[in-house]
Amino acid sequence: MILFGRSRRIWRLCLDGESSNRLTLLLSVAGAFANSFPHMSEFIGRLHPLLVHLPIGFLVLLGIFEMLARWPRGQNLMAAIRVILVLTLPVSLASIGCGWLLADSGDYDRGSLFWHRWLGTGLGLACAGLLGLHWRGQLRIYRWALTATLGILIAASHFGGSLTHGSDFLSWPKAKIVASQSGITGDLATQSFYVAVIEPIFKQSCVSCHGPNKAKGGLRLDTATHLLTGGDSGSPIEPPGATRSLLGKRLALPLKTEEHMPPDGKRQLTANELGLVRWWLDAGSPTDKTVQEMNPPPQVLQMLSMSNQTPGHEPAKSE
Ligand code: HEC
Repeated sequence: MILFGRSRRIWRLCLDGESSNRLTLLLSVAGAFANSFPHMSEFIGRLHPLLVHLPIGFLVLLGIFEMLARWPRGQNLMAAIRVILVLTLPVSLASIGCGWLLADSGDYDRGSLFWHRWLGTGLGLACAGLLGLHWRGQLRIYRWALTATLGILIAASHFGGSLTHGSDFLSWPKAKIVASQSGITGDLATQSFYVAVIEPIFKQSCVSCHGPNKAKGGLRLDTATHLLTGGDSGSPIEPPGATRSLLGKRLALPLKTEEHMPPDGKRQLTANELGLVRWWLDAGSPTDKTVQEMNPPPQVLQMLSMSNQTPGHEPAKSE
């Protein structure tokens, strides 16, 4: 509102006279506007996850009302259906607009982003179509179209969920916990230290951002091959050592610094896990040596047995 008021005043200034002062004023205001645009568009983009739930709610409600309206006692819902239809269009367009801005500002998994972007945009068009059909009284086609739209909604939401939570978010939690425990139980000595101890820690605390769905900083930590390939800054374990490697440094940074890993607010490594990762880094971060070959000192063995008693630790917090 303030923005509109101000721009109207600026227009009036320009239209009143052609003084070059006023033109300069206008240009500098426009410049300031343009400069703040990247931040503004990022900010507006971030409204997407919030806004998007409005059209979802409205569409689901439409589906429910349509079903109820089939019964004689539900007839009085007809008026409400029109109101919801009219409201759905602007909120879905607004959320699509924010979504496009957000897609530009984040680094999201491209496959899910592609589908989410276009299914979401299609959904907006479908809402316009639904309103048009209802307005013209073509109720039979409208109902079929609504069913199809709800189908698109499910698909678009699925890809949206994958973008923010990772594609395995909707899987049975048990599978994840077993994965994080695997290796620590069983005959530890003959297993690769990396696979048995380090990988489960990465899976639990890092792979949500450094895995198949998102590779923040270009880095994946879900397999040894990806770890060795490294990210935007090259290998995170070269030069080796807990204090010299990028990985060790990122873990050791104070929690509040932006580069601390995992970022503040996400599940942090326990002291035990940190000790194990640091010891492994200091031992040259091998990915194939067995626990026996690495010959861990007593305090590391103790950390191992402690992880063994409370394997999996607390389940990873979802993002
Ligand atoms: C919530 C998301 C998130 C989690 C969880 C996370 N990271 Fe990161 N990580 C990022 C982002 C974003 C970047 C890129 C920006 C930066 O370099 O700070 C990054 C960058 C990195 C880099 C630098 C990559 C490069 O080549 O520039 C390393 C190393 C790293 N993370 C290690 C880890 C480790 C180890 C864990 C788990 C203990 C972890 N991260 C967990 C978000 C995350």
